[in-house]
Amino acid sequence: MCGIIGYVGPDLCADTLIGALSKLEYRGYDSAGIAVIDEGGALVTRRAEGKLGNLVKRLREEPVDGRTGIGHTRWATHGAPTESNAHPHRSGSIAVIHNGIIENHLELKAELREHGHEFTSETDTEVFAHLVDHYRTVRGLALPEAVRQAVIRLHGAYAVVVVDAKTPGMLVGARMASPLVLGVGEGANYLASDAAALLSHTRDMVFIEDGQVVTLTPGGVELRDVASGELLPVAPVHVTWSPAMAEKGGYKHFMLKEIHEQPRAIGDTLRGRVSLERNAVNLPEVPLTRDDLASFRQIYVVACGTSWHAGLVGRYLFEDLAGLSPHVELASELRYRKAPMDERTLFIAVSQSGETADTLAALRDAKAKGARCIAICNVLGSSIPRECEGTVYTHAGPEIGVASTKAFTTQVAALHLIALHFGRLLGRLDDGAMAAELAALLHVPSVIETLLLAGEAPYEEIARAWHDRTSMLFLGRGSLFPMALEGALKLKEISYIHAEGYAAGEMKHGPIALIDEKTPTIILNPRDGHYAKVRSNLSEVRARSGPVCVVATEGDADAGDAATFCLTVPDVPEHVLPLVMAVPMQLIAYHMADFKGTDVDQPRNLAKSVTVE
Ligand code: G6P
Repeated sequence: MCGIIGYVGPDLCADTLIGALSKLEYRGYDSAGIAVIDEGGALVTRRAEGKLGNLVKRLREEPVDGRTGIGHTRWATHGAPTESNAHPHRSGSIAVIHNGIIENHLELKAELREHGHEFTSETDTEVFAHLVDHYRTVRGLALPEAVRQAVIRLHGAYAVVVVDAKTPGMLVGARMASPLVLGVGEGANYLASDAAALLSHTRDMVFIEDGQVVTLTPGGVELRDVASGELLPVAPVHVTWSPAMAEKGGYKHFMLKEIHEQPRAIGDTLRGRVSLERNAVNLPEVPLTRDDLASFRQIYVVACGTSWHAGLVGRYLFEDLAGLSPHVELASELRYRKAPMDERTLFIAVSQSGETADTLAALRDAKAKGARCIAICNVLGSSIPRECEGTVYTHAGPEIGVASTKAFTTQVAALHLIALHFGRLLGRLDDGAMAAELAALLHVPSVIETLLLAGEAPYEEIARAWHDRTSMLFLGRGSLFPMALEGALKLKEISYIHAEGYAAGEMKHGPIALIDEKTPTIILNPRDGHYAKVRSNLSEVRARSGPVCVVATEGDADAGDAATFCLTVPDVPEHVLPLVMAVPMQLIAYHMADFKGTDVDQPRNLAKSVTVE
């Protein structure tokens, strides 16, 4: 977690650093800071506890500017979220920013103390500043070489960027297991945690690999292998995301914008991959033959958080459409289990960011055991796709709101495509069934568009009525069980209301004890194969005086009978119902949080990209 940015070029860069940090704040917002080499050649830092706004205020009072600079937004791991623990950290003429965890920092600290270094923070990062300083002053190494030597000493995960007042006009960065993107501009170069932070400056990017160190000057870039010091080729790729995609575009919050972007995002994820003429799914990114598929003894779908919920929806699709029943696992659990895997295992990693530490670790473990690995991912060039044989990229565009919305629905759409592809390869879907599935999937963007156009007044009404509740239940059956989990997760993430998602059929085994007139239940009860059973669960809640919001199919005359609130979704085939049902789940959470006035895009304690374990 943590967001980092570096600039070297002809312009004064404080605003550029702050602008990029505002795009990276989703990665953590416990503190923020910048360091620049000012016009007099002095290294100046400004840091502030809390969100970026506090730093901006500080800079207004005590402005600072320069043409070489670094900036950081922090998600605290080592040391409290105070100003003294905020990055950049300094030693002598050196300032550094870091994303990750330096696992051997205590050992390095002890060593540096013996050389007379004194530390002012509780962070793991500060030792790196001292280590670079030590190599510069004691061994007299040039900055790039000092950074390379210092990086060789580190254990753990890091993306670091270093500036030195003795060498203005230069940035040195390095990466191991935390993302670092080089932006190649005209007469200026950049380093950042992700491509979205750089889009307003350049779309030509180099995704720095683990074990590489990069030196930037305004006019040049030099990439080297950390271990050998050998020069490596620099080959920028052109990113297609547009700068506007990383802006709010008139919406009150990124989350709301991203909810409304779903018709476009799902459409883009399907585009080029569905052929109605050939009645086929086109997925060259998944390099598996029919024989490969038939040889697998097991399939794992592995993810964290909301991406895990997408995986759970995927299991129903894989079972129904391809006759395959994957294990859908939480990466943070699976990586510590001794699950047997071999070359007859297919491992599908699902990750919006492509950087989640647990998903990456579980993937590496599966790979080491011989599993074939593919990814579903939203971020081009991120770590998880780079370690897989093939990646189905979701084309959601940058997702900035910490609570995932469009990334989730595009992951579900991608899993649906893979299930159809596998179903066809294995001969499980006849022409008629395939045509119906494809038509339903292609229709989803316009269905969601209609749902969104219907307006948000009913959600605002629910928020007004229930924003002060302390606990809520979400119930669903079949593929809407994961949607109940997702609805509950969204609500707790951003409104801080405790919520539980449950399989409706399990309610009687525990959660029914929670029901009283103060505990609302959201019941997903469209006209699907589980309609009657879920309807009985609804009656059971009502019989215990529990207030209910039912989410039903449009035109279901009986739906609202027993409910306090009734939301509706268009009547769609069952396999695309989770995609459509995602929208009311997201909007209930959004309006509840907005009514309460919480920080919707940056909820407390969370970060979007969890790159620590
Ligand atoms: C964090 C985010 C979630 C996300 C999860 C997994 O918890 O807040 O929105 O679902 O990480 O992230 P990934 O990038 O691997 O999908």
